[in-house]
Amino acid sequence: MPSNADFAAMDAWLGARVGGDDAILEAATARAEAAGLPAIAVSELQGKFLHLLAKLVGARRILEIGTLAGYSTIWLARALPADGRLDTLDIDPRHADVAAANFAAAGLADRITLHRGPALDTLPGLADPYDMAFIDADKQNNAAYLDWAIRLGRPGSLIVVDNVVRRGEVIAGDDAKAAGTRALFDALITERRIEATALQLAGAKGWDGMVIARVV
Ligand code: SAH
Ligand code: DHB
Ligand code: MG
Repeated sequence: MPSNADFAAMDAWLGARVGGDDAILEAATARAEAAGLPAIAVSELQGKFLHLLAKLVGARRILEIGTLAGYSTIWLARALPADGRLDTLDIDPRHADVAAANFAAAGLADRITLHRGPALDTLPGLADPYDMAFIDADKQNNAAYLDWAIRLGRPGSLIVVDNVVRRGEVIAGDDAKAAGTRALFDALITERRIEATALQLAGAKGWDGMVIARVV
């Protein structure tokens, strides 16, 4: 059986070929580490995946729930045209402070609006439609965030949800994070406003996955 070390080694090999981490992203990660933030950002290859998805759908407006230090945000914002906009939401002021510094250092502060506070407080005040949403915050609220992403989208909008496998714990794990994502899948059984799939991913972050959906 391959281990997480094998997945990480493969990710490093792939990253050296089709990654794309550069000095700005490395500095963003270094700033997050220096501030003691958890190392739970998307991986380099996942960040580039999000970047490519945003470009492929021609996203001009992107919604992100869960900023942390803004690593995924920078990947996404770089996919926008010059007049594109990204709204990113985070509850933790320490995370938001680091993210704001990272956006300024990346030269992206003018394209990104960082909304501080609980996402469920911010979401009702946002104006639709978004072309793409990336859901990556507290997993307990995943079903509510999916509902908001659908309501703030339009037919054809792309929705991506991170961490939907959690080493397989989503099937039966009794912690709140696993249960929250299980509730998301329970909602998807009858959800007719989107077409969705779920992909398992192995790599630098171990075994996890993402939901990819299109608003009908
Ligand atoms: N998308 C980031 C990682 C986000 S980590 C990246 O890949 O680089 C999850 C983030 O969700 C944390 O920063 C945490 O503070 C935030 N979060 C947790 N609960 C939240 C809530 N209720 N509202 C908004 N953000 C929340
Ligand atoms: C966790 C959150 C994430 O967004 C992630 O990508 C990995 C782990 C967590 O809260 O454990
Ligand atoms: Mg995540």
